[in-house]
Amino acid sequence: MKNGREMIVYYNGSYMQKDSVSISPDDRGFLFGDGTYEVIRVYNSRIFRMSDHLKRLKHSLHEIEIRSLDVAHLEHVGKTLIEKNPETAQDAVLYIQVTRGTAARSHLFPEHIEPTVYAALSGAPAGRTAIDNGLKIILLQDQRWGRCDIKSISLLANVLAAEEARKQDAYEAVFVRDSVITEGTRTNIAAVFDGTVETHPTGHRILGGITRDVVLELCHRENIPVREQAIAEARLYEADEIFLMGTTTEIGPVIRVNDREIGSGRPGPVTQRLQKSFRAVIAR
Ligand SMILES: Cc1ncc(COP(=O)(O)O)c(C=O)c1O
Repeated sequence: MKNGREMIVYYNGSYMQKDSVSISPDDRGFLFGDGTYEVIRVYNSRIFRMSDHLKRLKHSLHEIEIRSLDVAHLEHVGKTLIEKNPETAQDAVLYIQVTRGTAARSHLFPEHIEPTVYAALSGAPAGRTAIDNGLKIILLQDQRWGRCDIKSISLLANVLAAEEARKQDAYEAVFVRDSVITEGTRTNIAAVFDGTVETHPTGHRILGGITRDVVLELCHRENIPVREQAIAEARLYEADEIFLMGTTTEIGPVIRVNDREIGSGRPGPVTQRLQKSFRAVIAR
């Protein structure tokens, strides 16, 4: 496996070694967190749900008024990165970041500015067995802004919450806003009550996860009832099962919330069934 520096990455129209990328300190991503991104899984050198990710990227770009990017071209970029990094591409994560571009620092949108585009592969994270054995999460107040549907690179609240989770030996911090469960720092969350899967509806309070979409499709296909409604914080502890959904986590069973055990204290049957179906989708 190549180390990160030997990887070939994409930067503003060219492919180059990661070490050769030079980004200006005036880049608005650096100065303001003024940009958006996608994290996409690559299984067996094939990009998983690329069109869904590009659709979400288009949404984010539209909402933050970055209009001049050919989003469709990024599929070609992803495929080229796979060709140029064949070893890593066996089991990888494709990261794409777009910022508004580089200009003298001013809050206002600069005129005549081209977005900065960076894309790179990295090896998929390890730790599948630990995830499958069941995870602890903690609940924290949602300190984020009101447009969580935009996949903003401004992730300070997520970073602080994820770090707090690590300090408490938890895999993920899940946010609570107005006494309901929204989502995790890098995952969506669902709970099972009497066989029905419940998860927060899409809208401004959560990121519409691609994994969440796949899970809801699987539920539909397998006649598992779904209710897209917010779960009250107090009720979460009464769930039979809880699971996380995300590109790097895939489906992650939750067996502990703060210091309280959930259900049987082991990954539940609905979660495991969905995990199995999810892996079948990947294998196809
Ligand atoms: C805040 C947040 N919610 C949910 C998700 C899950 O989305 P996806 O399944 O597309 O990875 C992510 C992914 O990074 C995220 O950052």
